[in-house]
Amino acid sequence: MKEKIVPLITNSAINKRLDEIAEEIMRDYKGKTIDMICVLKGGVIFMVDLARRINLPVKISFMSVSSYGSETKSSGNIKILLDLDESIEGKDVIIIEDIIDSGRTLNLLGEFLLNRNPNSLKICALLDKPLRREVKVNVDYTGFTIPDEFVVGYGLDYDQRYRNLNYIGVISFEDE
Ligand code: IMP
Ligand code: MG
Repeated sequence: MKEKIVPLITNSAINKRLDEIAEEIMRDYKGKTIDMICVLKGGVIFMVDLARRINLPVKISFMSVSSYGSETKSSGNIKILLDLDESIEGKDVIIIEDIIDSGRTLNLLGEFLLNRNPNSLKICALLDKPLRREVKVNVDYTGFTIPDEFVVGYGLDYDQRYRNLNYIGVISFEDE
């Protein structure tokens, strides 16, 4: 199979949108310290580029999670592959994620982190595919709303590849 990538969101569109989101976050968190939690691995590139635009104290940390099989209806469990190394109690936390698809990951992660009593907890996602939503998620900051297509680039992978593209594209497969 030959992989073909058709550009969907250019690097300059991403940069412009990140400037806007950073402005919005700076307004909302004026005078505060932000604890950013990046969901590995897809959120990494988005988080570092966003954090560099924010002129407030920002701390960064990482989590890696997998939600138990979306194929099982009883899925209400999240598996923490990498946990935080500091308490978030009383902190102002923003979860940084690459994309919200079914919504399962963020729904479960949000609940998990709320149990640790942060002062506030918001969600910031680069991409949102609302047509795929299975469970409700309140997203506070969204980069782009996209159609139900599989996308790669700017942190998002297909089979762990393409995360390093500086734009976002739709991947498709053709017989050679
Ligand atoms: P959710 O729990 O279904 O919302 O899963 C979201 C996760 O699925 C994301 O963090 C991505 O890792 C992955 N994902 C969903 N859609 C795409 C896509 O179009 N490209 C790459 N990864 C995706
Ligand atoms: Mg992800």
